[in-house]
Amino acid sequence: MIKTVEWTGEGVRMLDQRILPTEEKYIMLRSYEEVADAIKKMVVRGAPAIGVSAAMGVALGAKQSVGTSVADLEYDFDYMCEVLSKTRPTAVNLFWAIERMRNAFSRAKAETEDVEEIKERLVTEAQKIYDEDIEANRRLGRFGGELIQDGASVLTHCNAGALATAGDYGTALGVIRGARDAGKRVAVIADETRPFLQGARLTAWELAKDEIPVTLITDNMAGHVMKQGKVDVVVVGADRIAANGDTANKIGTYMVAVLAKQHNIPFYVAAPISTLDLSLESGEEIPIEERDAREVTHVRDHKIAPDGIEVCNPAFDVTPNELIAAIITDKGVARQPYKESLRKFVEG
Ligand code: MRU
Repeated sequence: MIKTVEWTGEGVRMLDQRILPTEEKYIMLRSYEEVADAIKKMVVRGAPAIGVSAAMGVALGAKQSVGTSVADLEYDFDYMCEVLSKTRPTAVNLFWAIERMRNAFSRAKAETEDVEEIKERLVTEAQKIYDEDIEANRRLGRFGGELIQDGASVLTHCNAGALATAGDYGTALGVIRGARDAGKRVAVIADETRPFLQGARLTAWELAKDEIPVTLITDNMAGHVMKQGKVDVVVVGADRIAANGDTANKIGTYMVAVLAKQHNIPFYVAAPISTLDLSLESGEEIPIEERDAREVTHVRDHKIAPDGIEVCNPAFDVTPNELIAAIITDKGVARQPYKESLRKFVEG
């Protein structure tokens, strides 16, 4: 099993996703500041993985706090939560996980004045978030696997696999693994996903490692392969899903959804409930991260654009709900109207 992020006695251990697939290297993060930095620099990335990492980051920070009273620990803890919540803006799992840690702190504080006991409970909560993510994606994979026909060719964008979650199954790739584990033959077409190349570097790597047939294409080939009849279904992950089903995911996802519509190919989003943000009416309200221009002007360290060129680098886009055939969650498969179906999952 691929272990994206892991709590150890020494700190938080992460697989460094910046250097995959050329190097498979784990790094140990020994403070909450190092965890925050790792999220910012995309050592770890993918909505659920960011949430799990942030939870482990605040647990680690709390454990290292020298505060001797509950009030001192709470002061440090609040500050750490603030720092971690400023790392990346789009994936709601980050804020969801930090909120869970805040609630765990409040519960612990109401029950004990023992600072060490509160710290232990925070570690336990972070590990619970980790375990639940793996279980949720297994369930999601089983639901989603039922929507995939035997022999299907599935196009995916970015990496919504084990590497984007706590590990194991993943979300969009969890659906593919769910179909495979149900005995179906399934092959994947992976978009390379410029500019960060999560498809080429990560999806291709993890599927090949798992012996799931994968063909890599550049993003601008998606329309052509669909027109040739080479794609039966599209499955992507999500960073934040608004109440009406509008979905923020990796830049380029919207383009793929429009192409799928044009070619009558079902377009599915796969995400755990922790990716839903029902406080937002629509995708218009989802904050979109703008990243460094260098990601566009360079491929790794190689410059491909003139000096000083104006660059736009939004990391995500929003796919309108009407282009989404279904949203596959760990509670079941939601269909239109999403406003009702998603709410039922959250409340039920
Ligand atoms: O910028 P990234 O690599 O964090 O973006 C990741 C994605 O857009 C994924 O598709 C999404 O987080 C779903 S991961 C299960």
